[in-house]
Amino acid sequence: MTLFVCAIDQGTTSTRFQIFNQEGAFVTSHQEQLRQIYKRPGWIEHDPKEILRSVVTCAEEAIRRFELMGHSTKHIKSLGITNQRETTIVWNKDTGEPLYNAIVWGDTRTNKIVQRLQKKDTSKLQKMTGLPLHNYFSALKLAWLMKHVPAVKTSIEKGQAMFGTVDSWLIWNLTGGPNGGAHVTDVTNASRTMLMNLETRAWDPILLEFFGVPESILPEIVSSSEHYGDVELIKAIKGLPICGCLGDQQAAFVGQKCFEPGEIKNTYGTGAFMLLHVGDTPVCSKQGLISTIGYQLGRDGPVGYCLEGSIGVAGSAIEWLKDNMGIIENVKQVDELASQVDDTGGVVFVTAFSGLFAPYWRDDARGTIVGLTQFTNKCHLTRATLEAACLSTRAVLTAMRQEGHVELKTLKADGGLSNSDVCMQLQADTLGIPRPAMRETSGLGAAFAAGLGCGLWKDLETVRSLYVEGADVFEADINNKDREAKYTMWEEAVKRSYGWTQ
Ligand code: G3P
Repeated sequence: MTLFVCAIDQGTTSTRFQIFNQEGAFVTSHQEQLRQIYKRPGWIEHDPKEILRSVVTCAEEAIRRFELMGHSTKHIKSLGITNQRETTIVWNKDTGEPLYNAIVWGDTRTNKIVQRLQKKDTSKLQKMTGLPLHNYFSALKLAWLMKHVPAVKTSIEKGQAMFGTVDSWLIWNLTGGPNGGAHVTDVTNASRTMLMNLETRAWDPILLEFFGVPESILPEIVSSSEHYGDVELIKAIKGLPICGCLGDQQAAFVGQKCFEPGEIKNTYGTGAFMLLHVGDTPVCSKQGLISTIGYQLGRDGPVGYCLEGSIGVAGSAIEWLKDNMGIIENVKQVDELASQVDDTGGVVFVTAFSGLFAPYWRDDARGTIVGLTQFTNKCHLTRATLEAACLSTRAVLTAMRQEGHVELKTLKADGGLSNSDVCMQLQADTLGIPRPAMRETSGLGAAFAAGLGCGLWKDLETVRSLYVEGADVFEADINNKDREAKYTMWEEAVKRSYGWTQ
């Protein structure tokens, strides 16, 4: 009899429900797009109830397909959750109603709060949290909600408010909501709030005071793999234990089985996120990288720390070509256009739509296209958009090399944009890259955590030995001189993207 585990992957632009068998092989899934709400330039919101509804719809449809394949839900052992990180929600714990839309990770509305906080003593922040003081992280978004949304302020005063990232919102609702839902967050998600101390893996009173956050609204921090509660909300999987939870980039890291120092993966999703395993203690970056937790698999289970290079815009620039510019009609056309030209014709596109994240951390940068001529056409611009993801990745890789903590092994790529052969070839011109057949590894990582949490798999060694479909390997096809010339042009263009906000 074959057993199964399933995973909710709640990302920035879509929600998926995936089912895997006990060999770690993909069985079936369902995916729905998520509405993006842009009220003002730089603002990005999601409706928390839509997030929840999309999870329920995806679960029901995936289970329907699973049953049509002749399987029974009786053989599903547990559920794992993985989610867009940092996105911040505050809700009323008595009614379950959100008090404002979710403020999404790439939202830049908190720049003024960052500037105000920079006047305080910030010297210990990076060491304690592993993060730069930046609008990306949840504490800043929470500070904005407490200041600008009266319902949030009054709910906190009345002891009715709950704060959470998307994992907390989902687990609380799935396990019963106002009727006893579990208010928890796993260490990987907590490490992105700026409220958790990276070494103790607990909320830190100094950080809470710095951001003015009352501890009473925070979820309990738990490991990434343990039993948090059982599903109440979704009829098709009612009673299923929820045993895994990881932020989506950490989940992809686990899904790619990066369990040893030196192992590294890059996920090309809405943004691009490169995570390097640095061992079982955190390291503080001097090169503009983030120090974060890769996983804690069980209350007393193995802990892996990472250096992360977060790039704010990758796949979302392709969406921009499609939705805002009308240059392509669907994502598949990217390769068709980009492969019609040998190069970008001298065009460099710095896709700094939300400023620049690692390793630059420039709030004042904005999207910049340089090198346009009468010769430039949409093929060049499309290719330059793909190159932007690769050149941003090169900047992050350079920073990782400069950190010099561990020797980098081969980079493993996954995520939506890794389906583009042109993008992977451009990336390989920086480094050899194996691309796995299973490219949606966040769900797989959450399933691994859930399977470990319910005892389906005994330990990391068992997970490591699980099924892996073959990988394509892309090798560099460019000489050193051209590679360096391209990167120099990128660095010049990056400088020109600075200073476009008041
Ligand atoms: O930190 C943001 C990240 O978690 C978003 O991931 O895959 O939804 O773009 P994704």
